[in-house]
Amino acid sequence: MTQIATPQLDLARIRADFPILHQQVNGHPLAYLDSTASSQKPALVIDALTDYYRRYNANVHRGVYQLSEQATEAMEQARHKIARFINARSPREIIFTRNTTESINLVANAWGRANLKPGDRILLSEMEHHSNLVPWQIIAQATGAELDFIPVDGDGRLALDDLNTLLTEQTRLVAVTHMSNVLGTINPIAAIAQAAKAVGALVLVDGAQSVPHFTVDVQALGIDFLAFSGHKMCGPTGIGVLWGRKSILQAMPPFLGGGSMISRVELRQSTWHELPHKFEAGTPAIGEAIGLGYAVDYLSQIGMDAIHQAEQQLTAYALERLDAIDGLQTYGPAVAERGGVISFNLDGVHAHDVAAVLDQHGVAVRAGHHCCQPLMNILGAPATTRASFYLYTTPEEVDQLVVALEKCKAIFS
Ligand SMILES: Cc1ncc(COP(=O)(O)O)c(C=O)c1O
Repeated sequence: MTQIATPQLDLARIRADFPILHQQVNGHPLAYLDSTASSQKPALVIDALTDYYRRYNANVHRGVYQLSEQATEAMEQARHKIARFINARSPREIIFTRNTTESINLVANAWGRANLKPGDRILLSEMEHHSNLVPWQIIAQATGAELDFIPVDGDGRLALDDLNTLLTEQTRLVAVTHMSNVLGTINPIAAIAQAAKAVGALVLVDGAQSVPHFTVDVQALGIDFLAFSGHKMCGPTGIGVLWGRKSILQAMPPFLGGGSMISRVELRQSTWHELPHKFEAGTPAIGEAIGLGYAVDYLSQIGMDAIHQAEQQLTAYALERLDAIDGLQTYGPAVAERGGVISFNLDGVHAHDVAAVLDQHGVAVRAGHHCCQPLMNILGAPATTRASFYLYTTPEEVDQLVVALEKCKAIFS
């Protein structure tokens, strides 16, 4: 069996940073294996949130008094940290949204409605989360544009052999996920972006599962938009990011109208504030944005490469242990091409029943279609059970999962 050693991460020290992990569930130590849905938060982030609400809660960009200036300064500092984290050219390219879903809807509505016309094509993939599918369906219906799809092959990877046929002069946008939340597949975004650029298409990347888990450099990838969520990367809920190339964002009309996003308002017309404010109508999630800045500090200090390496080692170990269970099928490609997400099914037992039995043993996993119904149809499984890992996940938690699965098998056999 693979010897599992993660010398690059001090697991005991990392776990000490996450208060929620130290509890019993149904008489067992909690094994939280659902970080793909939402990650846990280190004390540093929780403290940053309470510190904001206790010491300097005030609205931003408005007041001339000290608390408001302090809140504004802290929020803008968070924007700088996030820009550095993904290697954006400027913090003005960082738009605060609620989550990945809202970031993609922003592009679909603001860019899509202004730029798409009948006959234009949008290229997606068959492994997209509903967040990177439904907004494009809505915009395609509204504008007359058509959707195309990069297929998924039998190993759960994008079948890119026909990419150059799928990309035509009518393709205006390629929108793909960086990492599948069902299969763990990490897609070759730089190569896809290069092919897209050759036909003049823009590239949007759904980074919900990549930005939290490995280094994402928007300039090196050669992309135009990146969407991600704070709550999946040790940050608070209610805060997400859209990064966009400045020239494209500047040319786009606003998404939502209201306070903060305007320059001048008259009764019948208005002009827009400069970036990033043009896309941040109304009072933002101030404390949550500040908290996300601290989450970025935390992840950066540990190191994204170390996190990725540790997750891959743990995934190799987990795959080996799960594949050894008779009657259990795992999905997705070889470990070199994936991150720490493993979907599986146990013969003759519904995914929800598996998850319910695992919960009885303290193991928290997700079951269902994972907001990827078209992909589930391709896999031929209406639902899977999914275990997912993060920087705080231990090999012992994987062992706890395996023991609970054996119990589950015994119950249903
Ligand atoms: C790949 C992917 N895209 C988008 C989303 C949507 O994220 P949110 O619900 O934070 O908007 C998720 C959430 O699980 C995801 O895994």
